Amino acid sequence: MSPQGSSSLTTNSDCKTFLANRKKEVEEVLWSLLPPPEGMAAQLHKALRYPLEAGGKRIRPILVLTGADFCRGVSGKDVYAGKSWEGVAPDLKQAILTAACAVEMIHTYSLVHDDLPCMDDDDLRRGRPTSHIVFGEALAVLSADALNTLGFQLLACLPERYAIQALRTARELAVACGYPGMVAGQAVDLEYESKPGGEEVLEYIHRHKTAALIRASLLMGAHMVDGSEGDCALLEDVGEKLGLIFQVVDDILDVIGDAQLMGKDAGSDEARGKLTYPALIGLEESKKRVENLSADILARLEGEGDRAQVLLDLTNILVERQA
Ligand code: IPE
Ligand code: IPE
Ligand code: MG
Ligand code: MG
Ligand code: MG
Repeated sequence: MSPQGSSSLTTNSDCKTFLANRKKEVEEVLWSLLPPPEGMAAQLHKALRYPLEAGGKRIRPILVLTGADFCRGVSGKDVYAGKSWEGVAPDLKQAILTAACAVEMIHTYSLVHDDLPCMDDDDLRRGRPTSHIVFGEALAVLSADALNTLGFQLLACLPERYAIQALRTARELAVACGYPGMVAGQAVDLEYESKPGGEEVLEYIHRHKTAALIRASLLMGAHMVDGSEGDCALLEDVGEKLGLIFQVVDDILDVIGDAQLMGKDAGSDEARGKLTYPALIGLEESKKRVENLSADILARLEGEGDRAQVLLDLTNILVERQA
C-alpha cells in the first residue's frame, strides 16, 4: 500500500524518530500557551487542558512545520537531522510553532464536540474518558469553544512584523474549520446518519470534515514563510489528498482497528449508521482508494527532489497507521 519512490531512501524509522521529536517540540510550546489550572475559572482551564494533555498524534501541527520546511527547501536529510530551523529567526520559529499549536487547538475542540452525546456520543478519546464524561456537557462545550477562540487569538497576537503572514495563516485556518470547511462536513455527516447517501455525499463529508484542516495545516506553514504560489498550489493538492487518505483510513480503522492502540472505541460508525467508505464500498475497495490517493501524491511530488522526502514518508506513515 505504500508509495515507493526514488526519493524513499530514508526509512520510515527515521521518519518515526522525527515525528516523536517534532511532537515534543510542538508540545513544549503548547503547554506554554495554555492557562494554568487555577483561578476562579479553574474548572474551565482544567477542561480545556484535559483533551490536549491526553495526547494525540499531533499530525496537523507537524504538517504546519512540514509545509514551512517544504517551502524553505529544507531537504529531508536536514529535517531528519534536526536542522529545520537553521537560518530561521528565533521569533519566526516561535511564530511558526505557535501557528502549529493553534491548529492543534482547533482540531482538539472539534474532537470534544464530535464526541458529545448530540453528535457521535463517544465515551473514549485519546485513551481517556471523553471531556463530557469527566466535566459534564456544558463545560465540555464551553472548553471546546475556548480552544476554538484561543487558536485564533494566538494567530492574532503574533508579532506585528509577521502581520501579513499571520493574516494569511488565520484566513486559511478560518475557511478550513468554519462553515465552508470542517463544520459543514460535520453537519452533513450527522444529517446522513439517518438517510441514505452515495459517493458524492461521502466525498463531500470527508473533504470538509477532515481534509480541509489537513490541507490548511500544510498551507499555514507555507504562509508563515511566504511560500510561492506554485508551492502553495502543490501543497493544497497534496494536503487535500492526504486529508482524504486520513479519513478513509480512520473509517477503515473504525472497522478493523484496535481500540487500545487508537485510544478510542472501534465500531462506533456502524453503530450510528454513519456514511463511511467501508460501509458504502467495502473494506477492500476502501483500501484501494487509499492506494490510489497515495500514488497520486507520489506523482505530484515527482521532480520536487529532496525537499519532498518528508511529505512522501508522512504519506506512507498515514497510509499504514494503526492508530
Ligand atoms: C481524529 O483525528 C479525527 C479525524 C479527523 C479522523 P486524529 O486521528 O488526528 O486524532 P488525534 O489528534 O491523534 O487524537
Ligand atoms: C471526525 O470524524 C472529524 C472531525 C472533524 C472531528 P470522526 O467522527 O470519524 O472522528 P473519530 O473517529 O470520532 O475520531
Ligand atoms: Mg464524527
Ligand atoms: Mg467521531
Ligand atoms: Mg472515525
